[in-house]
Amino acid sequence: MSMTQIILLCRQGFEAETAAEIQEHAAKAGCFGYCKTKNDQAWVSYVAEEEQLKKLMGDVSFRDLIFARQWFLSGDVIELPSFDRVSAIIENMEGVPQCGELEVVHGDSNEGKELSRLCKSITGPLAGTLRKNNQLSAKRNNKLPRMMVMFLNGEQALIGYQYTDNSCKWPDGILHLKSPKDAPSRSTLKLEEAWHWFIPKKDWDSRIYAGMRAVDLGAAPGGWTWQLVKRHMMVEAIDNGPMKGDLMESGQVVHHEVDGFKFSPSKKAHWMVCDMAESPIKVAERMAQWIAFDWCSETIFNLKLPMKKRYVEVQKCIELMNEIIEKADMRVEMSFKHLYHDREEITGHIRRIY
Ligand SMILES: C[S@@+](CC[C@H](N)C(=O)[O-])C[C@H]1O[C@@H](n2cnc3c(N)ncnc32)[C@H](O)[C@@H]1O
Repeated sequence: MSMTQIILLCRQGFEAETAAEIQEHAAKAGCFGYCKTKNDQAWVSYVAEEEQLKKLMGDVSFRDLIFARQWFLSGDVIELPSFDRVSAIIENMEGVPQCGELEVVHGDSNEGKELSRLCKSITGPLAGTLRKNNQLSAKRNNKLPRMMVMFLNGEQALIGYQYTDNSCKWPDGILHLKSPKDAPSRSTLKLEEAWHWFIPKKDWDSRIYAGMRAVDLGAAPGGWTWQLVKRHMMVEAIDNGPMKGDLMESGQVVHHEVDGFKFSPSKKAHWMVCDMAESPIKVAERMAQWIAFDWCSETIFNLKLPMKKRYVEVQKCIELMNEIIEKADMRVEMSFKHLYHDREEITGHIRRIY
């Protein structure tokens, strides 16, 4: 079986953005395929010749994709008889190299979620047979590719693989986090997930530590501030809305009831985070200014995307931010991701590099 497509998983409703993005990257890399997708299926297929697809997955860094949560190289759809799905999968392994891990996933759509039990129940028996056949290493080995099986429904699946050093480490691209009971809002998970995605674990102690100064723009009722307080930072929370009482009792938070676009820090902060429900271009400009004015070393922020042309809007925001930062002659790391806990919004991260 030849590998004829790259499958890109995304949030339901964001198929058009995911398709536009892979097309753009592919065109830049000299790969001229096309996308196939259906509204609300929560995944996109990019079709081209196998050699071109392999080159594309090597040339494009997965971290540069904003809307794709996960990707893998795949063959065509295979049919699965309900009485023996394992054998049907094993018979269609041609083109898949020996792998070090197996993941069985489904799209993050309502239909897809109904397949969750099937995915779990087949993983053990399938992995056992694959190991016997030496198609899967005896022990988990993340230096080898990761085998991906994606169920489309009870009778059809896609089989393929991905390189673990250029894909999302969470199998279906989703980081499942428990909502903390005492946090003021569920939004708190957006900042927690952003840290997991943007900050390598080995850097947490040097980049997210006790005593740091932080500013939270658009802080109320306090979900993001709660994360900063939990990490023992001193926080200036900016919002005209009320902050949740318990948080203020921590003694680590000062609440300024002012406009987040007018606030400037009296002393440089390490972190500035921003979840202001405002126009994305306005927020993007302000975020870049915070870095350009050297008011903070790092920022994590949300760009809200309630409009129809979301992809175009994101491009405009990134262009403007690059312009402002280049003018200030600063070196930065800048990246964006549509995180699992983001809805009609994406999360950005900028870090000054000295
Ligand atoms: C999505 S909520 C923030 C939720 C918060 N991150 C949390 O985790 O609880 C958006 C907030 O942005 C605030 N906001 C919108 N425009 C603002 C502005 N110009 N200045 C300050 N706050 C603003 C709103 O008052 C609202 O509280």
